[in-house]
Amino acid sequence: MKKGKIVIDKEFIVSQVDKRIFGSFIEHLGRAVYEGIYQPGLPVADEQGLRKDTIDLVRELNVPVVRYPGGNFVSGFHWEDSVGPKDQRPSKVDLAWNVIETNQFGLNEFADWAKKANTEVMMAVNLGTRGPEDAKNLLEYCNFKGGTYYSDMRRSHGYEAPHDIKLWCLGNEMDGPWQMGHKTAHEYGRTAAEAGRLMKMLDPSVELVACGSSNLEMPTFAQWEAGVLEECYDQVDYLSLHQYYDNMKNDTPEFLASSVGMDRFISSVVSICDYVQAKKRGKKKINLSFDEWNVWYHSNEADKKLEKWVQAPHQLEDVYNFEDALLVGSLLITLLRHADRVKIACLAQLVNVIAPIMTSDTGAWRQTIFYPFCHASTYARGTVLNTLVQSPVYDSRYGDAPYLDSVVVMNEEDNSLTVLAVNKSLDEDMEVTCDLRQFAGYRVADHIVMSHDDMKAVNTEEDPYQVKPVSGGVSKVEDGQLTAVLGKHSWNVIVLKK
Ligand code: AHR
Repeated sequence: MKKGKIVIDKEFIVSQVDKRIFGSFIEHLGRAVYEGIYQPGLPVADEQGLRKDTIDLVRELNVPVVRYPGGNFVSGFHWEDSVGPKDQRPSKVDLAWNVIETNQFGLNEFADWAKKANTEVMMAVNLGTRGPEDAKNLLEYCNFKGGTYYSDMRRSHGYEAPHDIKLWCLGNEMDGPWQMGHKTAHEYGRTAAEAGRLMKMLDPSVELVACGSSNLEMPTFAQWEAGVLEECYDQVDYLSLHQYYDNMKNDTPEFLASSVGMDRFISSVVSICDYVQAKKRGKKKINLSFDEWNVWYHSNEADKKLEKWVQAPHQLEDVYNFEDALLVGSLLITLLRHADRVKIACLAQLVNVIAPIMTSDTGAWRQTIFYPFCHASTYARGTVLNTLVQSPVYDSRYGDAPYLDSVVVMNEEDNSLTVLAVNKSLDEDMEVTCDLRQFAGYRVADHIVMSHDDMKAVNTEEDPYQVKPVSGGVSKVEDGQLTAVLGKHSWNVIVLKK
């Protein structure tokens, strides 16, 4: 059996967890909106056509904020098309995903859905084909009380009270040549600065996210971040990171080592933000919004065969397996370990499109990745402790990758301590110890485990509980020491209570 050790000290903290680290994302893409959250006529739809089964699962997932409406989609989006009487809304081509957008669901319906799903809206503005003026108009429509052209337009649409949306993305992946309105760092940085200035003049309470690179492999990575921030540092609050992971090579240890890649990516972007701060000799820090992250590759081949200019096709419908859930658990641990700088993160996406929740005309079910996300979002609230992990390692493209990934979160409100841990070894259990003498009287209240003999096992509508967590993992506290046995290739949530 492998051996690992976790060292914590209740005085050594990383940061409070910003609950928005458990955010997610709904884009007008594939069946995320249509058939995912909105499907009038279904028996499970409410009077607005919102699917109650999806809402129930989103509430269970405990998602405090959802980014909307894109993604690549937002770079061609005319928000005015999506509000007002539905019979007057135009159908338009969406050049991001080569489909037809009917606009039968729009931003007011999304604000209503968010309330029902117990979440908040993180709204993106179009800085691709549009610019600062339009960003200001959209903010006026959403957040201004009344008595102006756009706020009265909202009121005339039946929304007397402002939506009061606090978190805004200034465009999406503007470094990507595929993006409508793709820009250089200088062009985008200037546009973001001016959009941000107008938006904060109108509503100083909003927080703004500037676009970082679309992924770590972009040739402009690092120069892009520095160049953008040099233009808009004073106007924005966060810089975005996006990264998707895949197991195209079918090499599970390598795939599971991807959390090392995420860790380094975050550290690099923190360094770049602080470099620009140093250049400016300022006090203000820019924090990170990792607003697209997930596993994404299973649907690539199917998506190449899609017909163009149809409505809501089965697009990006990855069916997630057990090893994907293990990596998602490790990625969540990595985000939490950086909670001092990562304040927002969005699992991309939420329903049907590279998502933890899937729907059909007859039901909704939880994909494998639903569970680690739900556990982290439910139990890892409070203060992240600086968690020293001593673990055997294996060789990967990143160099040494630890078999054990872990983070400990202390919740002062309910006197609980949660250990999230992944054992990445494919053939050996691991005995993990942790000195808990500072936490006198704490006992194991629950040890949830998720594992499966088949790394490729999936949940489907026909067999929705093939991969699911169970309580009853092997762990105990004796003489102030936690000892837990983490099964080979397992996700573990150890909840300790006084
Ligand atoms: O989440 C799917 C797509 O991935 C988003 O639209 C885009 O921002 C990213 O490239």
